[in-house]
Amino acid sequence: MSDFDLDQTDRLLQTTKQVRKRLDFDRTVPSEVILDCIDVASRAPMGSNLERNKWLIVNDRDKIAAIGALYLKAATPYLASGSIDESDDRQGRVVDSAMYLAERMGEVPTMVIPVRYDRVEGGDVATQAGFYGSVLPGVWSFQMALRSRGVGSCWTTLHLQYEREVGAILEIPESVTQVCLLPVGYYTGDSFSVTKRRPASEITFVDKWGTSPDLM
Ligand SMILES: Cc1cc2nc3c(=O)[nH]c(=O)nc-3n(C[C@H](O)[C@H](O)[C@H](O)COP(=O)(O)O)c2cc1C
Repeated sequence: MSDFDLDQTDRLLQTTKQVRKRLDFDRTVPSEVILDCIDVASRAPMGSNLERNKWLIVNDRDKIAAIGALYLKAATPYLASGSIDESDDRQGRVVDSAMYLAERMGEVPTMVIPVRYDRVEGGDVATQAGFYGSVLPGVWSFQMALRSRGVGSCWTTLHLQYEREVGAILEIPESVTQVCLLPVGYYTGDSFSVTKRRPASEITFVDKWGTSPDLM
């Protein structure tokens, strides 16, 4: 038997949402809170247990504004391109919320950029899986650690269209890979709904591709 409260752990896993409209733009998140969450997140698995990741916290208002402007420049054409099906209600809400964040990215209380301090150029599937698989689990742990302290974040990647420009603002060497950018701020309100997803029985095969678990 495990001593975890499953209701609590499942609720944390299922309600750690990508927070955009509910970020509190007026409240600073103390650096100690973010450092505590990085400590928690650093326990995530890493290929060969090699610690090749780092985290960059951005509090400087001018830098946040400059990165926010680049993010908006990348997000505007992408979100207007129609590549996300907005006739689907749920996707329409994501686009609306993503556009809201894009317009206010330059005002967020803090940005956190997780990085790997090497790069994967090309490489086979195993190399790529090992590369990103050694840093992304920590990002999700970080988001959950924040959420359990009342702090919201949103996983974003659109700024990577301007990876070099953002790197120049933060003096990140070209040998380093930024894997995403998280705007971070306390969230308003106190509960989040459970994300709607297809049930396990629809997305799982057993023993053979195409086999439904219902037939087990
Ligand atoms: C790899 C990845 C990239 C993403 N990039 C962006 C992004 O650039 N901008 C954004 O607003 N959301 C981004 N998202 C957030 C997704 O849109 C989000 O997970 C989706 O809206 C579901 O929301 P939920 O997690 O709150 O249920 C990204 C998520 C992932 C995992």
